[in-house]
Amino acid sequence: MAKVTVIGAGNVGATCANVLALNKVAGTVIMLDVKAGVSEGKAIDVLQSAQTLGFETNVAGVTNDYSATADSDVIVVTSGIPRKPGMTREELIGTNANIVKSVIENCLQYSPDAVFIIISNPMDTMTYLTLKASGLPKNRVIGMGGALDSSRFKYYLSRALNVNPAQVEGIVIGGHGDTTMIPLKRFATYNGIPVSELLDAATLDKVVADTMVGGATLTGLLGTSAWYAPGACGAYVAAAVIHDYKRLIPSCVYLDGEYGQKDICIGVPAIIGRNGVERIVDLKLNDEEKALFEKSANAVRSTNKIL
Ligand code: 2OP
Repeated sequence: MAKVTVIGAGNVGATCANVLALNKVAGTVIMLDVKAGVSEGKAIDVLQSAQTLGFETNVAGVTNDYSATADSDVIVVTSGIPRKPGMTREELIGTNANIVKSVIENCLQYSPDAVFIIISNPMDTMTYLTLKASGLPKNRVIGMGGALDSSRFKYYLSRALNVNPAQVEGIVIGGHGDTTMIPLKRFATYNGIPVSELLDAATLDKVVADTMVGGATLTGLLGTSAWYAPGACGAYVAAAVIHDYKRLIPSCVYLDGEYGQKDICIGVPAIIGRNGVERIVDLKLNDEEKALFEKSANAVRSTNKIL
């Protein structure tokens, strides 16, 4: 049976562990946190819903004991501080870079073959840091942002269309930042119908703008970063790895020439399966989309320079 570790038992990590258990993604789910008792308590809370909800996943919480994470197939990293209203994700880099680096080193001691899914912010830079600090092959490090941003894009599209979000498709590429995301209007569809046939240009532009600040909007309402969708998206990516689903998931992955970029982790559509990033899907971007991608990559690169 597969084993998934979630590092950080805050809102995002605990939600991710809960979804992993509920959806029976893995036989064992370990939550690890630095705060004594928090992951243990949340694990018991999750397990006390098992009989009601009908899952048998073995969930356990530990305080900073990395030996309990040994032989994990997938490790989801949510550690670090979340943003507060008015903050950008990039402002978290100083605190979160050190935390993420030491988490990855500790995890690798016990799970040298794991696939890493990074949720900590600034997500693109934390994904790049994970890859550089660990020396892992590029297929084994996946940033979760594109899954979340695409999910928010589909939500806003479904609201504008007044339809079921399950029948809406949409892809967001670029960085996971308020100004670096690129919701691709041209590829968005409702039941196979291009949304540009159904929405006027101004409405579609508003959907794009709302998507880009989707996280910030929730931070403003909640006083902290969102967690239900971020945690669920982490579990969604983990499931694709564990079950070798070969799902197309917009993901932050290392580019080595693809999309005209080198030595950067940034969001593009990728096929996610047992090996992590199985393949990058090369969308034929038009000139306008290419220019937006270039601008987004430059912004991500300048955040990476702070490392
Ligand atoms: C968000 O956008 C957690 O970065 C995450 O909500």
